[in-house]
Amino acid sequence: MRRGEKDNPIKSNYLEECDIPLEKFRIEPFTMVVFGGAGDLSQRKLLPTIYHLFVEGELPKDFSLIGFGLTEMSDRKYRDLIKEGVKKYRGEEFNDKKWKEFQKHLYYLSSPFEKDNNYKKLREKIKKIGIPVSKGNIEIIYYMAVPPKATPIIVERLKNHGMCKEIFNTKIIVEKPFGWDRKSAVELNNILLGAFEENQIFRIDHYLAKETVQNILFFRFSNSIFEPIWNSRNIDNVQITAVESIGVGHRGKYYEQAGVVRDMVQNHILQLVALVAMEVPVGLEADYIRDEKAKIFHSIRKMNEGHINNFTVRGQYGSGSIDGKKAIGYREEKDVDENSNTPTFIAAKLFIDNWRWANVPFYIRTGKRLSKKITEICIQFKQPPLRLFGRTCEPLEPNVLILSIQPKERISLKFGVKYPKEYNKIYPVYMDFSYQDEFKMKPHPPYERLLIDSMKGDLTLFIRQDSIKAMWEIVDPITGRWESNPPKDFPNYRAGTWGPEESSLLMQKEGRKWITR
Ligand SMILES: NC(=O)c1ccc[n+]([C@@H]2O[C@H](COP(=O)([O-])OP(=O)(O)OC[C@H]3O[C@@H](n4cnc5c(N)ncnc54)[C@H](OP(=O)(O)O)[C@@H]3O)[C@@H](O)[C@H]2O)c1
Repeated sequence: MRRGEKDNPIKSNYLEECDIPLEKFRIEPFTMVVFGGAGDLSQRKLLPTIYHLFVEGELPKDFSLIGFGLTEMSDRKYRDLIKEGVKKYRGEEFNDKKWKEFQKHLYYLSSPFEKDNNYKKLREKIKKIGIPVSKGNIEIIYYMAVPPKATPIIVERLKNHGMCKEIFNTKIIVEKPFGWDRKSAVELNNILLGAFEENQIFRIDHYLAKETVQNILFFRFSNSIFEPIWNSRNIDNVQITAVESIGVGHRGKYYEQAGVVRDMVQNHILQLVALVAMEVPVGLEADYIRDEKAKIFHSIRKMNEGHINNFTVRGQYGSGSIDGKKAIGYREEKDVDENSNTPTFIAAKLFIDNWRWANVPFYIRTGKRLSKKITEICIQFKQPPLRLFGRTCEPLEPNVLILSIQPKERISLKFGVKYPKEYNKIYPVYMDFSYQDEFKMKPHPPYERLLIDSMKGDLTLFIRQDSIKAMWEIVDPITGRWESNPPKDFPNYRAGTWGPEESSLLMQKEGRKWITR
């Protein structure tokens, strides 16, 4: 019986397993070096998740983790620091006995990333504590939990010390952002590829590890009823909404430089577009799926100035209120310039120039401090060819398939039925499937899934260099145009609303409206 089956109300003989080779399920003993091992990401997400995997029995018996950072501290102090993080962010499952076992696997090395000599020390430490696997090599995972500018510095030094391909079996996990634009992303890729092979590089997009995001492919390609209508003949438009009610919080410094396009569109939103739009892959192997996604990125029409002016909307939140609580404006946030022109909202219309999607608009909108947190993909179908039920009536409510990713993980189909006792009144209803209600268990949180996959060496949920480049080519014209033409009306939406008025107008002028469930 596999893990999780005992709590599963669905009998195991109903579970259809794909023929994924067994070795994909095995994690070899490993040593993980976390550069920035005492930073915010490490303390809040990474180390608490590794602790959780340990408690759940997902990790091999032999593993070690070396935190590498600037602050001087002993192994013991590092263990105490991480203990605090685990207690704070995984408090419900903190267990003193388990912690005592877990902490024995943690080590720390303090050094500036720039200091070449200390990579020798790191190499010695790895060799001393590293666990040989069957092939005689030491399995190493480098995790870059560091400011983006540090990655090239570290990679160059690892390369100079022969620590990339030569003496260890290595993988490198790189956090977003991957560059700042196409040029810097290409430079970063060149540095990574100068030291590692492409299949050693795991570029993280945590959105892809959400169960409902992965389900888009399973839903599309394991059911025969949707695929025949998944095209421009039947679909009027696709809408992707990924909005949140929180502001920039403690990440003002990062956000000031990034803005909404680099933070959300270049990566998460475009990945969602690709999953909805891609063709059937040859197989489930990582590169087959990544090949099809890359084709979508290459097919998305590059925007010229006219298109950007007419079919993109930018916004920045001012003060307002959300759920009855006051919310400050973006310009009042910590580490944000009081005259900042950084956009916190975008709505835009994209086109995919291929046979399947010719002339079908893909509307996207994403932003901060909106009325609620919601991530949804809405596929709106075309109207019937003839309005049989009252030709003078309003247009029918369209059929919509809604794939909800957050906060509810759900699939809904909206269709019309006859309203009881009325002669020709059509009433829209929903047919719903909810993950939570059906399976009664929580999916792996994204970081958990990504860590497991990277330990196993499964690249499916990680982004390949050609896609990174192509995604930047799509967004660079927007950031370029916006940055060279500063907005005159920021802040232009109140916290707790659905964004600037122009976002609704973008749809209205085309006879459409934003859909949410
Ligand atoms: N935090 C998040 O929620 C989050 C979410 C998504 C992606 N990310 C990405 O994850 C990465 C790390 O973010 P973070 O928020 O964890 O950053 P952070 O809190 O600033 O941590 C950076 C770490 O790097 C170390 N460091 C910085 N400069 C160094 C140097 N010259 N030599 C040695 N060590 C140095 C720091 O060491 P000391 O602690 O010793 O100073 C610190 O541990 C970034 O790329 C970020 O974009 C973060």
